[in-house]
Amino acid sequence: MVVDRERVKSEFAAYTDRYDSSDGKIKLKIDHTYRVADICERIAKSLSLSGKDTDLAWLLGMVHDIGRFEQLKRYGTFSDAQSIDHAHFGVELLYETSVAENDMSDEMQAAFGQGIAQEKDIEEISLKRDRMDSSLEEKSGNNIGNTEKLSEAIFLENFIEISPDEEEFQIIKTAIWNHSAYRVEEGLDDRTEMFCHILRDADKVDIFKVCQDTPLEVIYNVTTEEVKQAGVTDKVMKQFFERHAILRSVKRTPVDNLVGHAALVFELVYPESLRLAREQGYLKKIFDFESDNPQTMEDFRRMRECAAEYVREKCGALNEKMIMNSNEGAPRGVYLVQ
Ligand SMILES: [Fe+2]
Repeated sequence: MVVDRERVKSEFAAYTDRYDSSDGKIKLKIDHTYRVADICERIAKSLSLSGKDTDLAWLLGMVHDIGRFEQLKRYGTFSDAQSIDHAHFGVELLYETSVAENDMSDEMQAAFGQGIAQEKDIEEISLKRDRMDSSLEEKSGNNIGNTEKLSEAIFLENFIEISPDEEEFQIIKTAIWNHSAYRVEEGLDDRTEMFCHILRDADKVDIFKVCQDTPLEVIYNVTTEEVKQAGVTDKVMKQFFERHAILRSVKRTPVDNLVGHAALVFELVYPESLRLAREQGYLKKIFDFESDNPQTMEDFRRMRECAAEYVREKCGALNEKMIMNSNEGAPRGVYLVQ
């Protein structure tokens, strides 16, 4: 595998140019992508990975949300619950034909659905892809205006030189597939699991930023009134105090989503990720959310304390020198949320 970063960036830009970047939501995901790639690289370097593996980590950031653009175009939302699993859809776009839904056999779709596509599936897909490539060329040449299908065509090989025999071919697929899942699938080898965690950590760290920069109204298609009046669902509170990510299925209100974002701190795996989140101060800003609902304000106050305590404990396990150097001797663990 060879990662030519300029080629990756220009391919990504060419792909996203097919969508309307004047739409704030598209712009949001473009910017998020570049930042996640940078954060992946920082985490990889903190782990002293080789140059090649650092390139792979960076690449994961660049392609992880490729499914978002078509998701928004088709469904008008980033809510996976209301549309499709964007991570799995991204894998389909990169690893299958451009009209995968219509063109794949049920068996192949099932194999991909379970993340267990075998080599023979890959060969079959390659054949289908070849046919699709020529079909798309014909369509483009004839300018028949089939933009629905043309706009979604994007293949992993457009970004990098890679063959299905290479280890990275599967690592990239598995990392994208798992990047927004509640938990990483079990049974992965250590190396694949590490890349999954690098990508997931980087994504989470940047979600803190997105929450700060982008109003909930825009992210979740809700009105300001709904956001200001919303309460936190009991099950969401319960899961937050259990100190883990909030299950998608229990979120009901706009502020549940905000709590869901904050709870991602409990899932960060690498010290560099906590350090970045702390350095950026984003979690603090999530908890600065001001509601018109007194109960919500009280709930947020309690959650802020819970998160602060967690970070204190977690940072206690981190490298002392790193913590003290980056915060001028302030008490440990307070940086994320206070
Ligand atoms: Fe994503």
